[in-house]
Amino acid sequence: MAKFYVSMMCADMTHLADEMKNLEEAEIEGYHLDIMDGRYVPNFALGVADIIGIRKLTNKDLDVHLMIENPEKHIDLFVDLGANMISFHLNSTRHVDRLINTISSKGIKVGVALNPSETIEEVKYIIEKLDFILVMGVNPGFAGQQYVNYVDQKFKDLKNLIAQRNLKVELYLDGCVNQDRVEYLDKIGVDGYVLGTSLLFGKDRTYKEIMDEVNNKIRG
Ligand code: DX5
Ligand code: ZN
Repeated sequence: MAKFYVSMMCADMTHLADEMKNLEEAEIEGYHLDIMDGRYVPNFALGVADIIGIRKLTNKDLDVHLMIENPEKHIDLFVDLGANMISFHLNSTRHVDRLINTISSKGIKVGVALNPSETIEEVKYIIEKLDFILVMGVNPGFAGQQYVNYVDQKFKDLKNLIAQRNLKVELYLDGCVNQDRVEYLDKIGVDGYVLGTSLLFGKDRTYKEIMDEVNNKIRG
């Protein structure tokens, strides 16, 4: 069953409690929290105060996506803030395997985020240690971008690798998730999606109406 995480960088933060109440009525899996430093990506997104507020208002999973340089320096901060899942970009840290071990040792689900051009070769030795792979459908850092079409093939290649080695790692798409893409990738066996402006936020329907339609379409 597909899992839907909502990208809170796209949410209306002026009415956070109401926004999260409406999101949770839409039966979401959890909250995707994009953290940016203006260096790894040329943008900023959520901050510590946002995470504190969101954590206070929900028991659902907080999926922290670190788009920052040297994420190894900040893991304890996000664990203390209540992260349940942490992903980081391979080329943002010198020692990937060590950082995976560090995050796992905290009892947090660990993932790596693959930029569109990065191949599955990058993860073939570490994939057994991962709980999930966050496959970027866009170049990281901004909402509202166009999907990078060759990412579809990456999902197929990853699913083949997972099947060959009988792995449990989950695949999530982050970036430009729309209805058609969910229906297509659900058939390939993608496990989860990060919903932002492409499907959920800034529309003229309620979150529940949108998510009911998405779920009905993939459940058939
Ligand atoms: C991209 C962000 C996402 C996402 C937002 O760096 O991590 O949260 O793009 O969703 P869309 O692409 O639908 O606006
Ligand atoms: Zn993200």
